[in-house]
Amino acid sequence: MADDAPTPDPAYPGLPAPPPLGSSALPAGTFADRVVLVTGGGTGLGKAIAAEFSRLGASLVVASRKPEHLAAAEEALAPLGPVATVACDIRDADQIAGAFDAAVATFGLPDVLINNAAANFPSPAEDLSPNAWRTVVDITLTGTYLCSREFARRHIAAGTPGSIVDVGASYAWTGGPGFAHSAAAKAGVKNMVETLAVEWGPYGIQVNGLVPGLVPHEDMTADIQQNLQRNRSHAASQPALRVGLPRELGWAATFLASPYGSFISGHTLVVDGANWQRRHLTNPPVVPVREQMGRGPFEG
Ligand code: HXC
Ligand code: NAP
Repeated sequence: MADDAPTPDPAYPGLPAPPPLGSSALPAGTFADRVVLVTGGGTGLGKAIAAEFSRLGASLVVASRKPEHLAAAEEALAPLGPVATVACDIRDADQIAGAFDAAVATFGLPDVLINNAAANFPSPAEDLSPNAWRTVVDITLTGTYLCSREFARRHIAAGTPGSIVDVGASYAWTGGPGFAHSAAAKAGVKNMVETLAVEWGPYGIQVNGLVPGLVPHEDMTADIQQNLQRNRSHAASQPALRVGLPRELGWAATFLASPYGSFISGHTLVVDGANWQRRHLTNPPVVPVREQMGRGPFEG
């Protein structure tokens, strides 16, 4: 997804571009002999996060619903290292147990769980059907809980340590006009990180959150892409004067789950160039969500 980058101004260079794809801050082999399960790892940020673990030696298990996404994971990740894919809807505890069974049979019990899968679409809150609300909350919040529960139960029973990273969103703190369902679900995820880190720390299970800023990518769903395209320049609207790159989330996730991050737990790391901290007493004029989304009047 191309971004309309602002004309460079030498007075305002913005935050520097990151190192190239394939670089790593961690030592080679940091995740050798480690198994990493990534939900939604066949697209977008999940695929980029999985790739960074693989570059550091991990064996990957990618779990999501759609065969085309599992095939995309295989195609992108197999050249980097061992990868297995498994069909799984994270709303269903039995399917999650099946995905963990498949992981155990192929590589062993996952040492790291990346709860990346989520559901979202733009909509004025008053337009959402009860089932639309439930669908997003079931996938984003309940699915994250159910995967975490399966991971923890198996590690507690085995007496082995583990690390969980939950991918969130900054509207967990700020609210998200146009995304009431997702924002509420992500607030639940952020809160759950804090609870589970305390509950499971004594068993050696670390739980953290990881929040991307605006990170456009080619797999973004059509309605989210259209919603972004309807609005003004993405880079110019960020304090960093650039958007995020998928690999930057991969580097943060691998750090949190690495031995170098093992005393960090219950924390949510925001990787967004400070965009969510923008606060002014005078903001740009309010544009109602229906206008932002080009939706007609509410019809009841
Ligand atoms: C309004 C919608 C809708 C839409 C679905 N629904 N899409 N309502 N606007 N665009 C309603 C349906 O009408 C239905 O309600 C209910 O939601 C369930 O729809 P299904 O299609 O049956 O659900 P399902 O097949 O389970 O699909 C889930 C999904 C879909 C969320 C609707 O979009 C999906 O699979 N998404 C996965 C990928 C994804 O969401 N990625 C975004 C992550 S990005 P009724 O009442 O009719 O039964 C992210 C951060 C982005 O989270 C940040 C942006 C900057
Ligand atoms: P994406 O490409 O649409 O990824 C969503 C993934 O979730 C898909 O791979 C999808 O795979 C999987 N998924 C959805 N429902 C599922 C279910 N019921 N069971 C199993 N898997 C399911 O979006 P993305 O941008 O990479 O988002 C990844 C994460 O980053 C999400 O948590 C999102 O909220 C967060 N985020 C992204 C941005 C951004 O700018 N990109 C910003 C803030 C937060 P299947 O369809 O195959 O199931």
